[in-house]
Amino acid sequence: MLRSWWLGVLFLAFASGKRLWDVPRSHAKEQRPEKLWWEPQCQYQLRHLQDGARISAVLPPRLEGHWISTGCEVRPGPEFLTRSYMFFANRLFKAYQFYYRDPSCREPTYSLVIKGKIRLRQASWITLGATEADYHLHKVGIVFHSQRAMHDTVARINQTSSGMRCSGFLPAGRTWAPSALYELLSAKGEEDCTPGLGFAMHELSLVRVEKYHQPLLLQHNQGSRQVEELYLGDIHTEWSERLHYRPTGYQRPLQNAMHHMHPCPACGIIYRADEHNPPVLPARPELPMLLNGHWISSRCEVRPAVLFLTRYFIFHANNRSWEGYYHHYSDPLCKQPTFTVYASGHYSQGAPSLIVRGGTELVFKVTHAQVTPMDQVTVSMLNSSDFGSCGEAGSWRIGQELDVTHTNGCAALGIELPHTEYELFRLERDGKDRSLLFIGERPTDGSSPNTLRKRPTSYQPPLLQCGEPLGTLARHIMPHDPERLSAQVNHGAPRIPVSLLVFLATLLVNWD
Ligand SMILES: *[C@@H]1O[C@H](CO)[C@@H](O)[C@H](O)[C@H]1NC(C)=O
Ligand SMILES: *[C@@H]1O[C@H](CO)[C@@H](O)[C@H](O)[C@H]1NC(C)=O
Ligand SMILES: *[C@@H]1O[C@H](CO)[C@@H](O)[C@H](O)[C@H]1NC(C)=O
Repeated sequence: MLRSWWLGVLFLAFASGKRLWDVPRSHAKEQRPEKLWWEPQCQYQLRHLQDGARISAVLPPRLEGHWISTGCEVRPGPEFLTRSYMFFANRLFKAYQFYYRDPSCREPTYSLVIKGKIRLRQASWITLGATEADYHLHKVGIVFHSQRAMHDTVARINQTSSGMRCSGFLPAGRTWAPSALYELLSAKGEEDCTPGLGFAMHELSLVRVEKYHQPLLLQHNQGSRQVEELYLGDIHTEWSERLHYRPTGYQRPLQNAMHHMHPCPACGIIYRADEHNPPVLPARPELPMLLNGHWISSRCEVRPAVLFLTRYFIFHANNRSWEGYYHHYSDPLCKQPTFTVYASGHYSQGAPSLIVRGGTELVFKVTHAQVTPMDQVTVSMLNSSDFGSCGEAGSWRIGQELDVTHTNGCAALGIELPHTEYELFRLERDGKDRSLLFIGERPTDGSSPNTLRKRPTSYQPPLLQCGEPLGTLARHIMPHDPERLSAQVNHGAPRIPVSLLVFLATLLVNWD
């Protein structure tokens, strides 16, 4: 079974990498006049960004250097953190992870110092474009930034099964000393207290380095600055899986401290920090959840395990309805389209999340979906799906959109209708004053967040607002005020249940 799954992955990667004939991309989209105007404009904006940037992969990846977070990151849990990783020529590395109580990364709780060795291996078969690596940890140390942080963390470690075995790492009743460093994992390796913290460095087992050019003057295309990004493996969304999970997707990238995007107010602060002086990021205003309008992926996104996609959403505040386009591709630069899903429905009033500070909870209903196959592999797969399981079997054509609402979705693509998803959203602005929309991370196991318990606690890569004049939202910035926030929350966003596993499973079922 495992073997045929792998064959499926390989076949898909191989077959869909080749387009048999070119596709008129604007086909069958005439029914939605609004889209006709907006999406090309948004796509144009995106493509302009991407082409201008000339994104390319550095192969084999060059890790050597100092890589930093460009802002406050959110991991499943949630955990709020910033990272500063140094890789040396002799394959040794020293990594800092700074943890915080708040979503703006202004109240540090503890910092980890992680030392070890990394060795690059071969190109990944699962995640195209990524390189696999082996790593070995030599030491993990922790510094607490307050008495309370120390107490909370020790109690947490103490509660876990590994806590029993590592009670020696911090004797009960020890008072906090601001600069004391305690070893969670020692060089001798006889005690390992890191599992109690939910800590693992598996992110180092999947790496990708990209570089691109950031134009210095947008209008004149004069000169550019090179930006280098380091993508490391993703963290499983289930806490109980994260210690074992081998990544197949990525986290938000780190940037090279010598070649980072400008402006980046957080970069210098993180670059200069160490375990005794954790970075405290600049205060940011809380933004009201004003979703109305058009949002688009700022780059090609990767989903565990093999899906590459860009997303485009429209939110209508007046009737709380949404529309989403999910453009899928077979390659890591999103140049070879495989299929597009259009989905729409309604969403609920939002409310501030009590679990993830800074996030807004929403409920989404997916009631309509249409699918456009963009390559021969997808056509064959859809064409041969069971009668009544995905639109009109046998009538699929490349570039032609078909409705799958009346068949309650499309089993082959894991689309189930009607469908409810419990979502987590966050709005931010980047260094260039653009609005960014973070939508909740999909469960790593490929399922959908269709129960309250599965509501995300971290986010996918941000979407950029498009079509609006730059800075239009600036006047809405206001100090944090949860009541006002919830009153203002009037939109949500969609996520589509496209499960790769179901997709592959169906391929195999049909070809066996
Ligand atoms: C850890 O738990 C043990 C009992 O399970 C308790 O005696 C000890 O005080 C705890 N240590 C800390 C630091 O909380
Ligand atoms: C909601 O309103 C928008 C714009 O006003 C409209 O285009 C859309 O069709 C409406 N959607 C529904 C489901 O009523
Ligand atoms: C899809 O099925 C129809 C009817 O069975 C057939 O005529 C058509 O050639 C098929 N198309 C592809 C691309 O397989």
